[in-house]
Amino acid sequence: MSCDVEPRALEFSYSSLFESHPDMQSVFLPFTGLVLDDLKKSKLLSEHALRVMGAVQRAVHRLEEPEKLHAFLSDLGRRHDKNGAKLEYIDYIGPQFLSAIRPILGGDWTAETEKAWTLLLGYMIATMKQALLEARNASASEGLKPMALPPSSSSSSTAAMDD
Ligand code: HEM
Repeated sequence: MSCDVEPRALEFSYSSLFESHPDMQSVFLPFTGLVLDDLKKSKLLSEHALRVMGAVQRAVHRLEEPEKLHAFLSDLGRRHDKNGAKLEYIDYIGPQFLSAIRPILGGDWTAETEKAWTLLLGYMIATMKQALLEARNASASEGLKPMALPPSSSSSSTAAMDD
């Protein structure tokens, strides 16, 4: 499976994604408040399209090493916790990616190619989402933990009350 796809294809495809899901724009914080036309031209968007392509390429290179592939995608998913991506946003990337590469492959796009890319994207997305969800659950339960008092201060305060 090779991944020599022109990154601009994904960039354009992203623009249409933002048209159908405008709330996704807010994740790209520096561009909050800009109109869609500005966002389409933004460097951040094209850089992220490149990053997605790079991540797909790295995943393809790790296909023979499932443990490394899983670790890479889990780590990427966890990092998106900080980026503020909602779980469902990650789902949108799969169909966008497929519709971006389909016209480029033209006659080479077969039912088998489609199945292979759908499986890879599906696995990437499911693994990233799982790790993102676990990271969110972990930080939510972190916030629920009771505050631990240092042992010395609790015993000294009891001693003071006993006097
Ligand atoms: C399959 C889905 C996705 C892949 C493979 C992907 C890949 C990446 C990669 C490789 C980075 C570079 C930084 C890092 O490694 O942590 C990144 C950063 C980032 N991603 Fe994603 N991403 C995906 C989905 C999304 C979605 C759905 C959003 C939000 C709408 C998003 C928002 C961001 C933001 C805000 C950053 C930081 C800014 C930047 O580096 O461009 N990502 N992403």
